[in-house]
Amino acid sequence: MYRTHYSSQITEELNGKKVRIAGWVHEVKDLGGIKFLWIRDREGITQVAAPKKKVSEELFKLIPKLNSEDVVSVEGVVNFTPKAKLGFEIIPEKIEILSKAGTPLPLDPTGKIKAELDTRLDNRFIDLRRPEVMAIFKIRSSVFRAVRDFFYKEGFVEIHTPKIIATATEGGTELFPMKYFEKDAFLAQSPQLYKQIMMASGLDRVFEIAPIFRAEEHNTTRHLNEAWSIDGEMAFIENEDEVMQLLERLVAYVIGYVREHNERELRALDFELEEPKLPFRRITYTEALEILRELGKDIPWGEDIDTEGEKLLGRYIKEAYDEDLYFIYQYPSSAKPFYIMKYDNKPEISRSFDLEYRGIEITSGGQREHRYDKLKAQIAEKGLNVESFDFYLKAFRYGMPPHGGFGLGAERLVKQMLDLGNIREVILFPRDRKRLEP
Ligand code: 4AD
Repeated sequence: MYRTHYSSQITEELNGKKVRIAGWVHEVKDLGGIKFLWIRDREGITQVAAPKKKVSEELFKLIPKLNSEDVVSVEGVVNFTPKAKLGFEIIPEKIEILSKAGTPLPLDPTGKIKAELDTRLDNRFIDLRRPEVMAIFKIRSSVFRAVRDFFYKEGFVEIHTPKIIATATEGGTELFPMKYFEKDAFLAQSPQLYKQIMMASGLDRVFEIAPIFRAEEHNTTRHLNEAWSIDGEMAFIENEDEVMQLLERLVAYVIGYVREHNERELRALDFELEEPKLPFRRITYTEALEILRELGKDIPWGEDIDTEGEKLLGRYIKEAYDEDLYFIYQYPSSAKPFYIMKYDNKPEISRSFDLEYRGIEITSGGQREHRYDKLKAQIAEKGLNVESFDFYLKAFRYGMPPHGGFGLGAERLVKQMLDLGNIREVILFPRDRKRLEP
């Protein structure tokens, strides 16, 4: 192995012992009688000090010839000394060059020379060498781990449903069509129909973590054309609040997990992640419109709350209650998809909810219509072709329990959790209207 220790693993017990570190050349300094080299790895930076008297002539001459971002492996002796910034340095015995870096670099890996987001994304592999960028993806990894942890603890089974599908799941026109041999097919907008079919299987509680594809034309800071959705679906619920309770516990668990396991990364981002209070505030759609009206924004009942309205509401909740996360529920049935159950005594209102995080929707969900005839009628009401839903409707004819669930956008969650300005910051290789590479 080219590396025995990461920078962070070099502790005082190793003083005087031989180690091997590896990484990218962060900086080289030639002070005449002593040459310095700083090596950067995933965990931090290590100082390598080569005084003329202590190292071979060959090595002494080699160090100043190294360039920024060359990949090297350094074998040497650990020397704890108060003179070194980190408290220790390595006196090298052997330096191996594993890969030379070309010049000039397309992006400054230290971030000192600021670059546009597009340039950063074009050179994502270098962009990630900055600790604050890498921190985002370590946190993202924790988020996915915490989500899985949580679902397993709650008795959910992980499923995987097809991403090449025959029917538009969420309705609308935001579909990527593709050729599937002789047939027309689409990339899945959501696992919605399949996770619901699974409710008729007896598995009862399922979750899926997978990409969703949306052919949205617009270019915004919160939309991607390929995003990751965290979907949960559970059977034998009596109302949508049972789903809301699961979701709020999930989000609080994820935030708690990141607070506990990603202290270093949060520090690198200079961000204090607040622990949310449970339960999250619940505001009906109608109440939300009333608040907005008082704030000077009039939205007619039945219409969606637009981006500006969402932001206004987010700011209001923060100021009034110091809360970042809250539900808006009981949306008009006209504003929600066909699969959401309506209140039997008030069919204009649906058993739906969105979870908002600092004024941006991160989840939508609800109780589903599990009664075959009503569901079929709701498909037709939305102007969709009932026949193309035959494969789905079939699952409702032979024993379908009441159920509900949600879709939580992973990128929206991470973006809002870390209060970042652009969703592209939290996905390695974003797909948007213009970006198909890298
Ligand atoms: O609100 P959406 O479209 O709802 C569904 O897909 C339902 N099947 C969910 C359910 O179980 N009822 O998408 C759910 C979430 C959104 O709240 C958002 O966080 C994320 O998925 N999302 C996107 N994220 C980034 N870019 C996009 N274009 C997104 N579209 C949806």
